[in-house]
Amino acid sequence: MLLERLGVDVPVVQAGMGGGVVGPELAAAVSEAGGLGTLATTAPEVLERGLAEVRRLTRRPIAVNLLLPFARRAHWRAASGADLVVTFWGRPRRRTDGPWMHQCGSVDEARAAHAAGADGVMVQGVEAGGHVRGATPALELFDQVRAALPDGYPLFLAGGIADRADVQGALEAGAVAAVLGTRFLMSEESAAHEGYKGRLVDGSTTILTDLFGLGWPNATHRVLPNDATAHWLERRGDDRVPGWVSGVQASVVPVRRHVPFAVQASLAHRVSARSPLLSPRPPVAGSPERMLRTGALYAGETVARIRDLVPAGDLVRALTP
Ligand SMILES: Cc1cc2nc3c(=O)[nH]c(=O)nc-3n(C[C@H](O)[C@H](O)[C@H](O)COP(=O)(O)O)c2cc1C
Repeated sequence: MLLERLGVDVPVVQAGMGGGVVGPELAAAVSEAGGLGTLATTAPEVLERGLAEVRRLTRRPIAVNLLLPFARRAHWRAASGADLVVTFWGRPRRRTDGPWMHQCGSVDEARAAHAAGADGVMVQGVEAGGHVRGATPALELFDQVRAALPDGYPLFLAGGIADRADVQGALEAGAVAAVLGTRFLMSEESAAHEGYKGRLVDGSTTILTDLFGLGWPNATHRVLPNDATAHWLERRGDDRVPGWVSGVQASVVPVRRHVPFAVQASLAHRVSARSPLLSPRPPVAGSPERMLRTGALYAGETVARIRDLVPAGDLVRALTP
């Protein structure tokens, strides 16, 4: 049983959320309450320091999530100190000796992860916040993946989960654990910008788009509306960006790995809502206020049902079936 092997008591996992919205405080609070906290992609040295800080805050297990398009050798080195590595967005391949899972948006991808020796698969439904790999609702995809993989193979379920009944539903469907992003993004410990948290609390509609694609083009993600989406999408009545914008966003891919994370962040701080150079970075504590208008305000469909910011440990307790 994967959770027992990891030493996790409660089948509640805080999803990896990149770009700095998860700091050690959030991940440690989730793990300390018995769930599984997850640090995510940021500069490798920040990830390494974050993991050391989590280890200081809790003795419980901790996961690290790596976005494959951005993961460099230094990220893998930093992640090797975690109890579980979760990968996303790319060909599943074992790069660590320890426990490894891959988040998947289709049956084919889940099959590929299983064949590559993943210790389990996170099944992500289209309701999810952040980058969305597939197009199928969570429970529907879960049934398909379950039928396609051997009995007893560990599956986690992500997307559209916000309360205890949802967690219960995931477990009844056969999931080993429920994975929640948006709910933990809306916690006191999340490092999302305060203004972003305010918009999440007030938010009800989300948009599935590829707008915030600088250096990561044609990658579908779910966000709250803001000035950038109003300019590029609502005005044109199309949630996908014009081809030429994707082309501009793709043109920086070859140089992206040579640009330090701090430089990428400072560029994202300066861009205007009318620029095609919209970055996948979300506004975090310390980001300028203007990023609320120009940054990616990731949110899942559950944002419509969540109206509060709660301490993460309380959330784990409230979610425990
Ligand atoms: C702000 C935000 C950032 C995210 N960043 C990542 C990431 O870096 N890596 C990843 O595997 N998934 C990422 N996701 C997706 C989550 O892993 C997960 O699939 C999703 O949050 C589940 O849906 P929910 O938001 O409805 O709970 C992100 C989600 C959000 C909301």
